[in-house]
Amino acid sequence: MKLLVTGGAGFIGSAFVRMAIARKDLRVINFDKLTYAGNLENLTEVQDNDRYRFVHGDICDQRLVDSILAEEKPDAIVHFAAESHVDRSILSPEPVIQTNIHGTFTLLESARRLATPRFVHVSTDEVYGSLEAPLEATEAYPLNASSPYSASKAASDLLARSYFVTYKLPVVITRASNNYGPHQFPEKLIPLMIANALEDRPLPVYGDGMQVRDWLFVDDHCRGILAVLEKGRDGEIYNIGGNRSLPNLDVVRKVLAITGKAESLIRYVTDRPGHDRRYALSSEKLMRETGWQPVTHFEEGLARTVEWYRNNPAWVARVRSGEYRTYYEKNYGNRDTQ
Ligand code: NAD
Ligand code: TYD
Repeated sequence: MKLLVTGGAGFIGSAFVRMAIARKDLRVINFDKLTYAGNLENLTEVQDNDRYRFVHGDICDQRLVDSILAEEKPDAIVHFAAESHVDRSILSPEPVIQTNIHGTFTLLESARRLATPRFVHVSTDEVYGSLEAPLEATEAYPLNASSPYSASKAASDLLARSYFVTYKLPVVITRASNNYGPHQFPEKLIPLMIANALEDRPLPVYGDGMQVRDWLFVDDHCRGILAVLEKGRDGEIYNIGGNRSLPNLDVVRKVLAITGKAESLIRYVTDRPGHDRRYALSSEKLMRETGWQPVTHFEEGLARTVEWYRNNPAWVARVRSGEYRTYYEKNYGNRDTQ
């Protein structure tokens, strides 16, 4: 089976590409714009494989997307490419709307014209918005997005669904909870806290730190996407959760314990505007229909993740140079310490 993977140089996309290439029956064309979040260093172990090809391009570029699909005729598109960070979407929504909505539309149009047999649209539990405990979102839960990022993902989910309903394009949608693991850009909670802790820098906790997220190890997510690719039913949505809900403060304390750093590094800073208090979802449908389940315990996955960042200081230093500094100053520079 030949897959066109978009955003395969990012955190989850590159884990998926490495997993797919490890399977001898899959070929991958990785289509990526290489934004600040795209990093070919994540793919050194597959770059010379003859079942792998990299194409540098923007999913908003209809002519290029059309020509690659016409040339490669993939059996499936697995669509990861996105502007994926809530804080950046608050500071600067335009590229988020452009890539996440217009880019998804462009891909769907090409897939429709070229009759691609399967389109896996990778989405997020954030489209369900904040849920009061003990509620868990099933796939039928209403969309209630709060940030420009989650609103753009909800919009792209609806577009993807419309291409199934209207044009019978064989779309499946996945909605995963918060991912963590090696190679994650250190703007998201876990890699940022690990990278800062390893360098004895302050750990900025938004608000009271009691916001709850469900944590999913990236390889468990990728196995879930493969399960949906192979066994998911056309037009359906599948939640993919880690079954491990924790308040942010607990996560930060675990990072400090594993890195051997003191809790005095924690800084409570001004909260994120519109901050969703709690995400929670049920993955019962995916488990029932495909037999998938998450296998990595959070403490084990977190220890492996810390180990990876400890062993890859050059990767961290490179991604934190340049543009990252400007972003860091913009996002954290004006936040008061509480
Ligand atoms: P990431 O930010 O690490 O990577 C995004 C990738 O997309 C990068 O390689 C980037 O270069 C590429 N890209 C961005 N704009 C592009 C464009 N216009 N054309 C082509 N390529 C472009 O993101 P991630 O964390 O790996 O997330 C991947 C997908 O999974 C996203 O769709 C995201 O919404 C979804 N998701 C992420 C999480 C999470 O916790 N990170 C959870 C659930 C769902
Ligand atoms: P994040 O990793 O950005 O994922 P998302 O907002 O998409 O869930 O943030 C996870 C949680 O951690 C969220 O409640 C915001 C919080 N957070 C902080 O407290 N400090 C930080 O510096 C960051 C990046 C996030």
